[in-house]
Amino acid sequence: MGDSHYFSASPGGKRRAKSVELRVGDLDMELATDRGVFAADEVDFGTRYLLAEAPRPPQDGPLLDLGCGYGPIAVALSRWAPQAPLWAVDVNPRALELCRANLDRHSSDTSGDATVCHPDEVPPGVRFASVYSNPPIRIGKAALHNVLAQWLGRLADEGRAYLVVNKNLGADSLARWLNQQQWPTTRLSSRRGYRILEVVAKSP
Ligand SMILES: C[S@@+](CC[C@H](N)C(=O)[O-])C[C@H]1O[C@@H](n2cnc3c(N)ncnc32)[C@H](O)[C@@H]1O
Repeated sequence: MGDSHYFSASPGGKRRAKSVELRVGDLDMELATDRGVFAADEVDFGTRYLLAEAPRPPQDGPLLDLGCGYGPIAVALSRWAPQAPLWAVDVNPRALELCRANLDRHSSDTSGDATVCHPDEVPPGVRFASVYSNPPIRIGKAALHNVLAQWLGRLADEGRAYLVVNKNLGADSLARWLNQQQWPTTRLSSRRGYRILEVVAKSP
């Protein structure tokens, strides 16, 4: 990881461009990565598990990849729901740059709008039909709760979020907290210590 953390807003450090393979279900593609971003050497197991197990996105969107990194989830969503408006947000500028490049490379001419940006740049009125995330657990519990509350509060009526979280990093207590906050949350699947949580929008 070098001299800075992947979740830093300023990853800094030397660059070392490389590519990794994303192979999940019908997807088989190369993605550009670099130093200073999450899972730079290999697509994370949790991310692959989320893509393999979570339900496919609705075709009309809008969709959100929360904490997109170099974009494995965003690229998959754009393949599976090519017409849906897609938002991919991250605080790490290098991750945003890579995610844009990976979406450009792998989306077709007929794909819908994809916006890759800092979280503050998403207009406040946008509501999401589905959110997919391998969330930034390592920013700490209080910060994570804030980030999740902010974005889950922007689910459309009957919208759903799919989160992959490791049990050792607090998946079960996170599910309890979400339920306490009135976001109905269930464990869809569990493998190798990872959980996939499905979170339903609060009733209006
Ligand atoms: C576990 S990584 C997942 C990256 C990518 N989605 C993947 O699956 O490889 C979490 C990401 O969340 C980003 N992040 C950290 N704090 C954030 C925040 N407040 N809002 C949005 N993204 C954030 C990090 O920079 C990191 O890229």
